[in-house]
Amino acid sequence: MDLIKEILSKILETLIIYFPSMAANGAPVLIKKGTPIDMNKRFIDGRRIFGDGKTFEGLGLFIIFGTAIGSIYTVYVNNIYFILYGLISGIGACVGDLVGAFIKRRLGIERGAPAPLLDQTNFLVLATIVIRLSGIEKYVNLHINIENYIIGVLLIPLIHLATNYGAFRLKLKKVPY
Ligand code: CTP
Ligand code: MG
Repeated sequence: MDLIKEILSKILETLIIYFPSMAANGAPVLIKKGTPIDMNKRFIDGRRIFGDGKTFEGLGLFIIFGTAIGSIYTVYVNNIYFILYGLISGIGACVGDLVGAFIKRRLGIERGAPAPLLDQTNFLVLATIVIRLSGIEKYVNLHINIENYIIGVLLIPLIHLATNYGAFRLKLKKVPY
């Protein structure tokens, strides 16, 4: 019984830690067309640096959504630093998403073509690194460890199923998966 309690509280803690990054990562689907961050430029291998799927508008949504979730936390727990935590999470997730696209282009994977695992977890790696390096953790009393990261990675497919179904019901997506 105690073990189950411990696991559930670890999952809850992980959701609290990563919800700002996850919300930020999901936000850009609202974008249909924008200005590519790589300005249509190509890397030395002749392929696009990031591709048309990474836009300034998308970058803005990462930051807005991350900060918005952080602001909601701030209201609930009365700690102003959560706004900063949300902002940092959004920036980290965005950098991770860009790194993921950069890697995909270098591997010759077209914009929008699936790269299983990389597509789902790229943002979490960099969000974790940026949050840790920023030193914000102690101000919000959240401390990310390897268990949180692993649980986060494992939860992502489940959350994807739920949000994709939601986006389908809201007619943002054509298929429910
Ligand atoms: N998007 C954006 N700007 C970003 C990230 C995402 O405009 N910085 C938008 C794009 O319209 C993109 C959509 O959100 O097509 C879905 O994001 P994602 O799946 O990350 O992009 P892909 O189109 O799959 O491109 P890639 O292969 O580079 O991951
Ligand atoms: Mg994609």
